[in-house]
Amino acid sequence: MRDASPLAVYLNDYQQPAFVVESLELDFDLAAAATEVTTRMAVRRNPEAVEPDAPLRLYGDGVELVSFTVDGAKPAEGLLEQDAEGLLLHGLPEAARLEIVSRCHPDQNTALEGLYASSGNLCTQCEPEGFRRITFFPDRPDVLTTYRVRLEADRAQYPVLLANGNRVEAGELDGGRHYAVWEDPFLKPSYLFALVAGDLACQRDTFTTMSGREVQLELYVEAHNADRCDHALASLKRAMRFDEEAFGREYDLDVYMIVAVDDFNMGAMENKGLNLFNAKYVLASPDTATDDDFVAIESVIAHEYFHNWSGNRVTCRDWFQLSLKEGLTVFRDQEFTTDCTLFGVKRIDDVAMLRAFQFPEDAGPLAHPVRPDHYAEINNFYTLTVYEKGAELIRMLRTLIGRETFRRGLDVYFERFDGQAVTTDDFVAVMAEVSGRNLTPFKRWYTQAGTPRVTAATSFDGPGGQARITLTQETPPTPGQEHKELVVIPMRVAFLDAKGQRITAHQKGGEVQDEWVLELSEGEQTFRFEELSDSPTAISWLRGFSAPVILNANQGVDELAHLLAYDDDAFARWEAAQTLFRRAIRSRIEHDAADTALEAAIEHALAALLRDEAIEPVLLATILQLPPTRELAELFERVDPVRLRNERDDLEKRLYMPLTEAMQQIQPKLDDVDNGAFTAEAMGRRQLRNRLLALRVAARDQAAVPEALAQYQKARSQTMRMGALNAVNELDHEARQVLLADFEKRYRDDPLVLDKYFGLQAGSQVAGGFERLDALLEHPGFRWTNPNRVRAVLGPFMARNERHFHQDDGEGYRRMGGFVEKLDAMNPQTAARLAQPLTRWRKVDTARGEQMRAELERLAALEVSRDLRDVIERALAE
Ligand code: PHE
Ligand code: ZN
Repeated sequence: MRDASPLAVYLNDYQQPAFVVESLELDFDLAAAATEVTTRMAVRRNPEAVEPDAPLRLYGDGVELVSFTVDGAKPAEGLLEQDAEGLLLHGLPEAARLEIVSRCHPDQNTALEGLYASSGNLCTQCEPEGFRRITFFPDRPDVLTTYRVRLEADRAQYPVLLANGNRVEAGELDGGRHYAVWEDPFLKPSYLFALVAGDLACQRDTFTTMSGREVQLELYVEAHNADRCDHALASLKRAMRFDEEAFGREYDLDVYMIVAVDDFNMGAMENKGLNLFNAKYVLASPDTATDDDFVAIESVIAHEYFHNWSGNRVTCRDWFQLSLKEGLTVFRDQEFTTDCTLFGVKRIDDVAMLRAFQFPEDAGPLAHPVRPDHYAEINNFYTLTVYEKGAELIRMLRTLIGRETFRRGLDVYFERFDGQAVTTDDFVAVMAEVSGRNLTPFKRWYTQAGTPRVTAATSFDGPGGQARITLTQETPPTPGQEHKELVVIPMRVAFLDAKGQRITAHQKGGEVQDEWVLELSEGEQTFRFEELSDSPTAISWLRGFSAPVILNANQGVDELAHLLAYDDDAFARWEAAQTLFRRAIRSRIEHDAADTALEAAIEHALAALLRDEAIEPVLLATILQLPPTRELAELFERVDPVRLRNERDDLEKRLYMPLTEAMQQIQPKLDDVDNGAFTAEAMGRRQLRNRLLALRVAARDQAAVPEALAQYQKARSQTMRMGALNAVNELDHEARQVLLADFEKRYRDDPLVLDKYFGLQAGSQVAGGFERLDALLEHPGFRWTNPNRVRAVLGPFMARNERHFHQDDGEGYRRMGGFVEKLDAMNPQTAARLAQPLTRWRKVDTARGEQMRAELERLAALEVSRDLRDVIERALAE
């Protein structure tokens, strides 16, 4: 491996920093064209360092050095070395004071890392290695210090000056300039530094913490967005309360600020006391944001807030430990959304996402462990594996050691490592300590890539008798990891009787129970149950999706239909339907024909579900949906994606055609859904109404199209408007054009809503996809320098427009390759991300795969960024 990527960074090479930074002062003379930064730091040799006389490494990336002094004097000839990574300072004494003056150019920064300009404001993004684009510094997460920051700028252009912590001073200066001084009392690494200078409106609120301290909440947006802040502020307060109640975590500063930024590479950033957010995850009103947007905003706000403890107070030693903060924080935000907003279906939504995005990542050329051991470009490791699979590992730990012990472990973890930079091993060690368990075998989940495959088989002896469950596990090889070890898999199971009730039994020497967590740690293991109270009609496997594995339990159609009708575990119930859908698709692709008996049984089960008065609307809506193509593709070694999409759509049509009347009958009960309520119930009913409409259109119900038109016209919310648009978006029908044209006219000047229009147009398989793509890129609202706009067009084109992206002459691949190339010159991080669909060339049929590969090879021959090169090289590696 080492030879394959000579520029890579290796976990095994980790060494403590040679110097600690005892304090830091930053003075910014801010202007968009050129900003001058004076950096003063007190450094001291780290007693723990390996080499006693090592030089001080100050990283710098594209920063101009203006002057440099050590204890007030210029360093002697030869002591200060400048190289590709920044500066190396030799011959330092035990302790010294450095003063560095440097310059950077925010208005030329289209990469959106470091200090940059967005909509006339100045802002920063430092995670993971952006601070070195602002000044020379030991920019690594294990160098923590306190910051005092002085900002100076033109008052008219930048009336608001913000940085981390508390504002301790502010005032006027000559020439229309002003300044502010901020101090952050908490130790932090440079990746959590932030500043903002701009003309922004502030929405305020307060929160009283559990110990009775009042915290000022401040949300900064452009003045014209001031009426779209309520939901974000309300979400923040809910998150703060939840973190106290569920995790005992209290906020620590007197002010918590959030700033909405138009041009942002990711969702948001947890800078200490000063979160920066992609405007998309802040701004919402019922007219502009769908229920899904509201839920996403709430979850991102909570995620960034939760980082204050899981990430900021306790941070990462190095970037290999990224999941230490991200996996844990995703887990925490999932708990929040489950308890406060979505309840049972949250788990289903998360599993669907994991399967559609993380499983393919784990099975493809970019597969990597949750804790990688080397990387060429860390920006490329902000992945679904580190975030979502990382959260699954935390969830499994909780399942294995129990909720209470886990919660105690978290308290110990936060207390013990407060103010420190630590590792995932440290985290697991705490959980081992509080539970008294040996969790060493569990740690393989962190170091081993790939999704384990589990099989399950059972046998029974009739009522009062015994049951045996035999489980096996195997993890397929991934790049660089040919041989896989066994992992610890918590399998939650229950037996259901003919009425769908849980059966009781006990394991040898164990208590009588009606649900078990089986721990599979061997390659094959048999679990025995005695004195079953009844004979099982069905087995409910992997309840709550207790482990991120691919399960094959070989269940019969009747058994699956039974689970679909009765299972009290929402995930397992949904999974029964998903298994049936997958089986039907597999049969169509592998045998080139529909399994009519199977499809009739599915239709029958769906009909029963539609008649079920007791099922929650949101669960019904979720169950009725077939898996997306990108998830179905994982069922096959290689598959023609255009055909797969067609088979999926055809299956949907055939299953739901006979059910149109049943669907119509539910509709009147949902006529009052557009009521502006944001309760789980109201959102669930709107979701069901929109799902039924879309399924009826897909099933060619003639009445559905005029209904979609009427729904759009009458809509008072974005949710219902988008519901109508989504329903007709695959129809080559006038209705589609009429609605889209109206939508475009209505929201032409509202970039975040216009992105939805871009997505509908780019993601539709209706003929003329390339012409539409050209038109979108020429649209006055489109900008290559804005990641949201670029993602809104290219994302859906690659993710759901199989017909055009995978057009058999390779036109889609060449176009996308060309766009990635163009974007790479401006914004490497976003370009590398958008290149990822092209890396899946081994999963599509060979004719297409070769064309995709050719496009990757064309890009590989160009001079591209390190971000993009890393992705392409891994995609092309043998
Ligand atoms: N740390 C951020 C989060 O998880 C994500 C992020 C990474 C943002 C890198 C910007 C740059 O919320
Ligand atoms: Zn995060």
